[in-house]
Amino acid sequence: MSQIRHQPLLKATLLFVSIVVLCVACSQRESSEVAPVLTNSGGQSGVSSTPITDAALYDSARTSAQAPVGYAWYNCTSALLNRSSLSGHGAPFLRTRYNSIASKQLDSTGKVKANAIFPEGSLIIKDLIVADRTTISLYAAMIKKKDDPNADRFGWVWTELFGNGNVLISVSGKGAACTGCHSQSGNIDLTLMNVSFPK
Ligand code: HEC
Repeated sequence: MSQIRHQPLLKATLLFVSIVVLCVACSQRESSEVAPVLTNSGGQSGVSSTPITDAALYDSARTSAQAPVGYAWYNCTSALLNRSSLSGHGAPFLRTRYNSIASKQLDSTGKVKANAIFPEGSLIIKDLIVADRTTISLYAAMIKKKDDPNADRFGWVWTELFGNGNVLISVSGKGAACTGCHSQSGNIDLTLMNVSFPK
C-alpha cells in the first residue's frame, strides 16, 4: 500500500533529476560550442589579431639583441659569422636568433631541421653587424603570421630596420624585396641560414 502511494513521488523525483542532468549537459555543450565561434569571428574581423608593425618588430629585435631571453641562436652560439657570398645583406658580420616557437625547428646542433615548417608565431631575427663587431647596423626579421594583411603566401611577414629603428624595408612591402632571393634552392620554409652556413 505504502509502496503504491510513493511511486508518483519517485517518478517525479526521477523526472526532475533527469531534467537537471539534461540542462547541465546542454549548457556545457553550448558554452564549448560558442567559444571557438567567437575566436574565429574575432580572427576574421581582425579584432583579436592586430597587424604586425615595423615598430613592434624593432622593439623585439632591439630588446632580444640586448637580452636574448627565450631565444636560441643558429649554431647554438651568438658568436659572429662572416658575411656569406649569397647574402643580400651587406654588413661584414651577422648572427641569427629564433624565438621560443621558431627554435623548436632547430636540431641539437642549432641548425634548421630539414623540411621544417615554422609554426604561427615563429620570429627569426638576423643582426647585421659592422666592422667594430658590436654595432648593429640593420635587423632583418621574418615572423610567421598567416592572417596578417602583409603576410606573403607562405605566411611570413618581412621587415628590415636600421639599428636606430628607422625603417629600410617595411612590413607593408609584403616581402617583395625578400622572397625572391629567399626562395632559392635549398631554402627551408624560405629560410637560408642552412644554405649559407651548412656546417
Ligand atoms: C639576395 C638575396 C637575399 C635577399 C634579397 C634577402 N635576403 Fe635575407 N638572407 C639571405 C641569405 C643568403 C641569408 C642566410 C644568411 C646569410 O648568408 O646572410 C639570409 C638570412 C635572412 C634571415 C635569417 C633567417 C634565414 O635563415 O633566412 C632573415 C630574417 C632575413 N634574411 C630577412 C630578410 C628580409 C626581411 C629581406 C627583405 C627585406 C631579405 N632577407 C632579403 C639572402 C637574402
